Amino acid sequence: MTNVHVSMHPLVRTKLAVLRDQQTKPKIFRELVGEITQFLMYEATADLPISPITVQTPMAEYEGQTLAVRIGLIPILRAGLGMVDPILDMIPMAQIWHLGLYRDHQTLQPVSYYNKLPASPSVDVCLVLDPMLATGGSAVAAVSVLKRWGVPRIKFVGLIAAPEGVALMQKEHPDVPVHLAAVDERLNDIGYIIPGLGDAGDRQFGTR
Ligand code: PRP
Ligand code: URA
Repeated sequence: MTNVHVSMHPLVRTKLAVLRDQQTKPKIFRELVGEITQFLMYEATADLPISPITVQTPMAEYEGQTLAVRIGLIPILRAGLGMVDPILDMIPMAQIWHLGLYRDHQTLQPVSYYNKLPASPSVDVCLVLDPMLATGGSAVAAVSVLKRWGVPRIKFVGLIAAPEGVALMQKEHPDVPVHLAAVDERLNDIGYIIPGLGDAGDRQFGTR
């Protein structure tokens, strides 16, 4: 799988097991979504360009680095929301632009209901955030919107994917790196990831 990065970090692996556990309540579930997201972000941002900056320490001048690109976080409503604050803790200057998509329960096709993007791109790198990549329809649609918007670089950061979703992303957007904590076995006949974790939105927001 080119351009697909699955974290093998031991802390990601162990946190993921607790996240999947059906006994895990929304508060801990939300915390784990955040913690795993931060580990994935560490890897997803490793190639961001930096430029020189001079700062004055209390003792002397120091030649340091600053990020050379403007970062946009694109959470897919609603489950992607839980990934935003943990990333803002790491990249406080990131812009947040919301896209609302839900899967039609019958067709499993993404339905767009909200788009807060301004007329022209105000960022250089977009990170599309959604914990679940199932059929891949929502992620592919979100990336297509961002490409039409004209943003130069796009990455997808998710927690759990089905092989079907990864394959669709690679077919439709092979240039977009995909960062994940796991690629699971398969989708079931109603489009849920097996073993997965159930519905990521419901489990974060207590709406099951
Ligand atoms: C879930 C998930 C993704 C989508 C993945 O959202 O958060 O957005 O399904 O499925 P796909 O890869 O087959 O498109 P859902 O439609 O349940 O909406 P929600 O976040 O509002 O719960
Ligand atoms: N959305 C979810 O939240 N979970 C799945 O398994 C598939 C889509």
